[in-house]
Amino acid sequence: MRAAGSGARPGLALLLLLAGAGALAAALPPAPPLFNVSLDVAPELRWLPVLRHFDLDFLRTTMAHILGNKVPKWVHALIGKVVEELARFLPQPFTDEIRGMCEVLNYSLADCLLLNLVYESTAFCTSIVAQDSRGHIYHGRNLDYPFGNFLRKLTVDVQFLKNGQVAFTGTTFIGYVGLWTGQSPYKFTVSGDERDKGWWWENMIAALFQRHYPISWLIRTTLSESENFEAAVYKLAKTPLIADVYYIVGGTSPREGVVITRNRNGPADIWPLDPLNGAWFRVETNYDHWKPVPKKDDRRTPAIKALNATGQANLSVETLFQVLSVFPVCNNYTVYTTVMSAANPEKYMTRIRNLG
Ligand SMILES: *[C@@H]1O[C@H](CO)[C@@H](O)[C@H](O)[C@H]1NC(C)=O
Ligand SMILES: *[C@@H]1O[C@H](CO)[C@@H](O)[C@H](O)[C@H]1NC(C)=O
Ligand SMILES: *[C@@H]1O[C@H](CO)[C@@H](O)[C@H](O)[C@H]1NC(C)=O
Ligand SMILES: *[C@@H]1O[C@H](CO)[C@@H](O)[C@H](O)[C@H]1NC(C)=O
Ligand SMILES: *[C@@H]1O[C@H](CO)[C@@H](O)[C@H](O)[C@H]1NC(C)=O
Repeated sequence: MRAAGSGARPGLALLLLLAGAGALAAALPPAPPLFNVSLDVAPELRWLPVLRHFDLDFLRTTMAHILGNKVPKWVHALIGKVVEELARFLPQPFTDEIRGMCEVLNYSLADCLLLNLVYESTAFCTSIVAQDSRGHIYHGRNLDYPFGNFLRKLTVDVQFLKNGQVAFTGTTFIGYVGLWTGQSPYKFTVSGDERDKGWWWENMIAALFQRHYPISWLIRTTLSESENFEAAVYKLAKTPLIADVYYIVGGTSPREGVVITRNRNGPADIWPLDPLNGAWFRVETNYDHWKPVPKKDDRRTPAIKALNATGQANLSVETLFQVLSVFPVCNNYTVYTTVMSAANPEKYMTRIRNLG
């Protein structure tokens, strides 16, 4: 497509564009299934229609595998003892949603809760927020996870309905009630990338008992409650969390894009777009943006190179998807890619990577 050059006549350019779009569509990896979850239904019941589309034995096998591999024995024993007490502290509707699914799966509440928390610990990701030359905001993310082979089959796009209307959209794994990726239409988009500071379980459990929020639950609550970009950034920056994280937020107006580096108790750093000074995109992987990335895991530089090569004028959800397709930004651990733009909510697109 680049070979078309700026000299191509409009007719030819259009033809090439259409040919290119066709090739891209043909080459696109598969989309996950899309489900509606109605927030007008009781929390315990609202996920059950979605669960019916999945093989419960496969779900149980996945749960057992992830719990067995990712949760230390002492954590399992401890949570088993305190789960009912803990459940009273945890924010709703998440706990009741987990309870409802858990009953169908015939798993203990402790196991289901741990499963919902364990994903918070090992998600390696790349998120990009960017502004094109006309002031439109785009947001994309790759979610990388070690147990991808299970999770690819459990990835779903979910439209959360209030009064029968789509209130917000997100991408998640079935059984997991939080969101790492989501969009509040015509308002803002959010993604989360892990920020690891070590002693994860110890810190997480201590923070849970102080009523801090699980990371992905706060994304969902923000999508559900915040009225605009600014309110979302405030909530995501200030609410006490069970672990550190990077929150990436995109809005609908020029300059509405930011990377929030979170400590558990509050923001460590706020890094907004600065397009007037050339900073038309921000790339966040899993390292503080003001520090160099480790050489053995540099997904930041290839992403920046690909964005530079794309150019601000050519930015769109499609070209952002291509940036997120470049190795090693997209790698063997990548489970899915989502691209979105809150001002054009119908453009929300997730594709499953490395399937089969
Ligand atoms: C980007 O846009 C410029 C003109 O705005 C065009 O010449 C170029 O071919 C485009 N590049 C790609 C990769 O589409
Ligand atoms: C549910 O699990 C319990 C113990 O884990 C087991 O005894 C029981 O048979 C299971 N019930 C069903 C319906 O699978
Ligand atoms: C989801 O709900 C929306 C809004 O009510 C409706 O238009 C759409 O057809 C529903 N989609 C599915 C997959 O059920
Ligand atoms: C991207 O472009 C900017 C501005 O031209 C330049 O300063 C930077 O070095 C480039 N980065 C990479 C990785 O190509
Ligand atoms: C990624 O997976 C493919 C296919 O399983 C394998 O051939 C390749 O070596 C892997 N690449 C890396 C960098 O691990």
